[in-house]
Amino acid sequence: MKRYYLPTKIYFGSGIFKYLADILGQRRKKIYLIIDSYFSKAELPEKVKHFFPKAKIEVFDRVTPNPTLLQVEKLRRKIKDFETELIIAIGGGSTLDMGKSTSILSGHSGKLMSFLTKKRKLNKKGIPFVAIPTTAGTGSEVTPWATIWKDKTKYSLSSPLMFPYAALCDPELTLTMPSYLTACTGMDALCQAIEAYWSIHSTLLSDIHAEKAIPLIINNLKKTVKNPQDLFYREQMMTASLEAGRAFSQTATTAVHAVSYPITSYFNIPHGHACALILPSFLKYNYNVSDKNCNDKRGTKFIRQKIKKIIKLLGCNNIDDASTKIKSLMSVIRLETSLSKAGVNDIEIIVEQGFNPDRVVNNPRLLTKNNLRDLLKEIY
Ligand SMILES: NC(=O)c1ccc[n+]([C@@H]2O[C@H](COP(=O)([O-])OP(=O)(O)OC[C@H]3O[C@@H](n4cnc5c(N)ncnc54)[C@H](O)[C@@H]3O)[C@@H](O)[C@H]2O)c1
Repeated sequence: MKRYYLPTKIYFGSGIFKYLADILGQRRKKIYLIIDSYFSKAELPEKVKHFFPKAKIEVFDRVTPNPTLLQVEKLRRKIKDFETELIIAIGGGSTLDMGKSTSILSGHSGKLMSFLTKKRKLNKKGIPFVAIPTTAGTGSEVTPWATIWKDKTKYSLSSPLMFPYAALCDPELTLTMPSYLTACTGMDALCQAIEAYWSIHSTLLSDIHAEKAIPLIINNLKKTVKNPQDLFYREQMMTASLEAGRAFSQTATTAVHAVSYPITSYFNIPHGHACALILPSFLKYNYNVSDKNCNDKRGTKFIRQKIKKIIKLLGCNNIDDASTKIKSLMSVIRLETSLSKAGVNDIEIIVEQGFNPDRVVNNPRLLTKNNLRDLLKEIY
């Protein structure tokens, strides 16, 4: 039996950021605010200090894309030393993951690496953590894991204890996203929804969220990139991102995400773009699942039906049209669709590094290194 577990309190609405103190209350007197330099320049710390006049607020404003083990270790120490009562992270997935990791680690001693390699188990709740996304999105505000990098390798800190205490989703915070970031993060959400839907861990309940997210992204991402100041489209995309997050919070992602990580770490391609580059090929690859290579106990016919449903949710009638539609969407939102043109110059590194067992085994069709090499050559 599979359970649905998502304990995060979710607040959603345009303009709700200004009610942050009403939502959280004034009880906590020591707050750690985690942001990056973009939001520091936008005077966000001043705003948050204004919301909590009686609290001491310490600010960490040096999050960089794709947080590293060293950065998490350093911040964890500062958060402990400050005797923090509440952590608030405002930003994209990198900032939220910094908040989530340091929150859970604050309740544990010992080296971070021992938790990343699963030698030690996370078994205590951390400092309450509030996630406020400014991209739409990674869905990190409703997932129980955080991505941490060391020497170009991606690790996951993961535990049901890591769900944020609260997620505050205000689409107004995404209005400032430049078009490339809007495109990348929107495609990340599309990959997550599709991967949750075809995952071997999908359930009827996770499907409901993915079924909501996919058409929302297909119908609104192009318009959002073209009309960045239109709050209606930003709202649709933030809803889609949240729905995709809720879906994959129950299933985890699959081979598309696994293979995307070396594309990001070795070739510096942002996370959402790295995932999008390989999505159309994996859609076809998984559609062609057979009894010999089906990874899902529910069988080949079941997976075929799921992918036929994805094709419909994408607004298409057959697999070729669906794959072409994703590539056309990428072109319109100005995301490169070929690996070499996006800056990848070595497929072998991706083949060697893209086999994160946690993710690849979730894929509905078995994936071998030779299969992956062939897929990557097609989109090179
Ligand atoms: N934990 C999870 O469930 C999960 C899921 C997916 C991705 N991730 C992780 O999230 C990270 C990617 O996050 P991301 O794509 O949101 O980008 P990001 O957090 O890495 O931010 C990229 C850039 O966007 C800028 N930015 C963010 N919001 C902005 C806004 N509203 N206006 C202007 N600029 C803004 C930031 O300042 C930064 O320079 C990766 O490390 C990925 O592994 C985590």
